[in-house]
Amino acid sequence: MQTISITRPDDWHLHLRDGAGLAAVAGFSARRFARVLAMPNLQPPVTTVALAAAYRARIRAALPPGADFTPLLALYLTETTAADEIDRAAASDFVVGVKCYPAGATTHAEAGVTSLERCRAVLERMEECDLVLQLHGEATDPAVDPYDRESVFIERELVPLRRRYPRLRVVLEHVTTRAGVDFVRDGGPGLAATLTPQHLLLNRGALFAGGLRPHLYCLPLLKRERDREALVEAATGGDPRFFLGTDSAPHARTAKESACGCAGVFSAHAGIELYAEVFARAGRLERLDAFASAHGADFYRVPRNRGSITLVREPWTVPAHYPFGTDQLVPFGAGTTLEWRLLDPETGP
Ligand code: DOR
Ligand code: ZN
Repeated sequence: MQTISITRPDDWHLHLRDGAGLAAVAGFSARRFARVLAMPNLQPPVTTVALAAAYRARIRAALPPGADFTPLLALYLTETTAADEIDRAAASDFVVGVKCYPAGATTHAEAGVTSLERCRAVLERMEECDLVLQLHGEATDPAVDPYDRESVFIERELVPLRRRYPRLRVVLEHVTTRAGVDFVRDGGPGLAATLTPQHLLLNRGALFAGGLRPHLYCLPLLKRERDREALVEAATGGDPRFFLGTDSAPHARTAKESACGCAGVFSAHAGIELYAEVFARAGRLERLDAFASAHGADFYRVPRNRGSITLVREPWTVPAHYPFGTDQLVPFGAGTTLEWRLLDPETGP
């Protein structure tokens, strides 16, 4: 049987939610990942270190007993974030960045920023303190076509940002386009990007295959095949600027299967297996370790994890749904066969 062992990986972009949703999903990530960067788009958003500490405690309380799992946090950037909050974040050992949502760009982004121009004092302080800025890189101008939002954001916001704050370290989250990949690759030191399983595995045709597929609707949208190919090359090519961030974003089934469905793909149930699929198809399985377990840790300047996980080539069928509070959660790949399975260290064959 084909197996691969890699250093315990990290998920550098994860939505864990709160309350019953958090309790339903936390275990999936804790089984696979040593550390995750938990996103702050709760309601109300996690805008301060005090709120982040309280959220971290709730995450810990939701974990299976004995889980060896470290949640790291990002603060939610608003136009009223105080520069002092950046000092507190930099002094903490669990807030590793500040996430910028363009106002209205996605789920719970209403409190986000209308322009990075309005956050000058905070960005200067982040540059001084070496706190990482995580960007949801999509223009929100309604005149911009939904498929051009990433490239327009790069032109209008990211290029000026890089010029004005050359030492500020930036992650372009869930990069989805060839233009985005090229920008990151040529972007000089201090610029990196995360890549999601759905953008690596599917193009936008999948959203409409045989009918509308609400469980594949996420933001940024799935893109063209030539974009997907560029993402696969970025992930599997060994460039340390690209690393794992699932953007697993659970929403209740009823909220997805609706006349106005929520954006988000839940992938934490197979958060490492899906990437193994990508790397195996590209014939580059030996590079999964660096992408999943080294590049992100190095960028965030935290030690690489100790210990390992093992994946076996043993097809399994993704369940149609998982429990999600009083509702259901439809996972990415529901009902389909995945080639790679995580070997449970306690029960392995
Ligand atoms: O599809 C998405 N869902 N994109 C995001 O940026 C946010 C996420 C969520 O929180 O549901
Ligand atoms: Zn996200």
